[in-house]
Amino acid sequence: MKISFLPKAPAAPKLLVCVLTLGEALPHAAAALDKASGGRISQAMKAQKFTGKRDQTLDVLAPTKACDRVILVGAGEAGKLTPREWELTGGQIAGLLAAAKASEAVVEMAAGGAEAAAIASGARLRNYQFTKYKSKKPESAPLLQALEVVTPEATKAKAAFAALDAVAEGVHMARDLVNEPANILFPEEFARRAKALAKAGLKVEVLTPAEMKKLGMGALLGVAQGSAFEPRLVVLRWEGGKKGEAPVAFVGKGVTFDTGGVSIKPAAGMEDMKGDMGGAACVTGLMLALARRKARCNVIGAIGLVENAVDGKAQRPGDVVKSMSGQTIAVLNTDAEGRLILADVLWYVQDRFKPKFMVNLATLTGAILVALGKEHAGLFSNNDELSTRLAEAGLATGEKVWRMPLTPEYDKMIDSDIADMKNIGGRFAGSITAAQFLQRFVNKVPWAHLDVAGTAMDSVKSAINQSWASGWGVRLLNKLVADHYEK
Ligand code: BES
Ligand code: MN
Ligand code: ZN
Repeated sequence: MKISFLPKAPAAPKLLVCVLTLGEALPHAAAALDKASGGRISQAMKAQKFTGKRDQTLDVLAPTKACDRVILVGAGEAGKLTPREWELTGGQIAGLLAAAKASEAVVEMAAGGAEAAAIASGARLRNYQFTKYKSKKPESAPLLQALEVVTPEATKAKAAFAALDAVAEGVHMARDLVNEPANILFPEEFARRAKALAKAGLKVEVLTPAEMKKLGMGALLGVAQGSAFEPRLVVLRWEGGKKGEAPVAFVGKGVTFDTGGVSIKPAAGMEDMKGDMGGAACVTGLMLALARRKARCNVIGAIGLVENAVDGKAQRPGDVVKSMSGQTIAVLNTDAEGRLILADVLWYVQDRFKPKFMVNLATLTGAILVALGKEHAGLFSNNDELSTRLAEAGLATGEKVWRMPLTPEYDKMIDSDIADMKNIGGRFAGSITAAQFLQRFVNKVPWAHLDVAGTAMDSVKSAINQSWASGWGVRLLNKLVADHYEK
């Protein structure tokens, strides 16, 4: 979609969207149309008691011969609106335009540059469909091709939008990856797509199974051994900060399909397990966003890409594997595979890059859906400052997190009789014991684990997302980096 910002509306728009705050008068182009129509727009506003209250909308058809439609959208009380709320209004506008089957429109507002940019960002985030496998594109709700945003601060809006545009691109990439079926997006193909981000300025390294074996990544490789697809470990690096300054690191679970392995999952709903790489997709989209907006920070993104399949060569319940850290693991359930992969990737990242912090994202447990539903991702951390920063970024972006406990009592639940630990902790506190497992592979470095099983896929529809894949976490982690780790 082409988005432009103009200080003045183009002459005679066919479709005009007008954003009004509470009690605000119609801005220029809308006022001119109202006059030309003999006051039809203001009459309709009175008839429907449209005052600009938040979420109020008014659809005026054919006010004049030249104009097909004016849509008024209420933004709410001026001066009280957050960037997040402007963004939601932008998403709402893109939804209204899709319902009107419009492919281009003019959006007029008296609001300033930052607000106009947020509106455009929301529209861009919403304006997404995954239709590549449909031989006939759906006509019911076409994608917007062009949006002209009219604001008195057009220059400021354009400048502010550049960074938001970069983030939206990252979100869309993450959604694309999660929506892709697993026969198309297997580990090597995922790695290829990550590699292609080199043209955005990222350094991309791809580790092969032989290299991982040399590093001693027995936990990750144990999961991979049942699949016809080879695993990959991808390291993306963005060097936008001072040379030699320690990076921040993001780690993603990238199970391109999770059958459960020999501890196989039930058939119903198993198709959703193509999304079991939502953590890796988020890290990839985030890295693209940071590169596109040239973040002034050194950042590592590492993703463990593996398929968890069933086969004669697959690992069995009861197998013992040795992780890169040297710790041994009894694999009592092959469906608890995410933690096995992350054990090696987390260890590798802290060992090699000595990051300021590590945040990992993983569609790790069904239990987090039981605990938190789809509103919050589970947050587990060894560090209060990092937790607070994540919680604040969550509220600002709407990608909310809720902190859960980590304690020695829960840690005990994964002690094993025959190895250093087992990969399941029993029926209760499933998300917590999974997090305790990960923590055994993290040394002193500040670390947070986000369990995104409820938020990355099959997500709640919102003003800025209608797709099965949400791209959850890209906006959250971008905000974390922007607010605290860029100078
Ligand atoms: N990928 C699943 C978790 C999941 C469930 C993600 C639902 C998204 C939606 C994970 O690998 C898994 O299978 N976890 C098991 C752990 C159990 C065997 C201890 C689970 O949650 O049942
Ligand atoms: Mn599993
Ligand atoms: Zn899984």
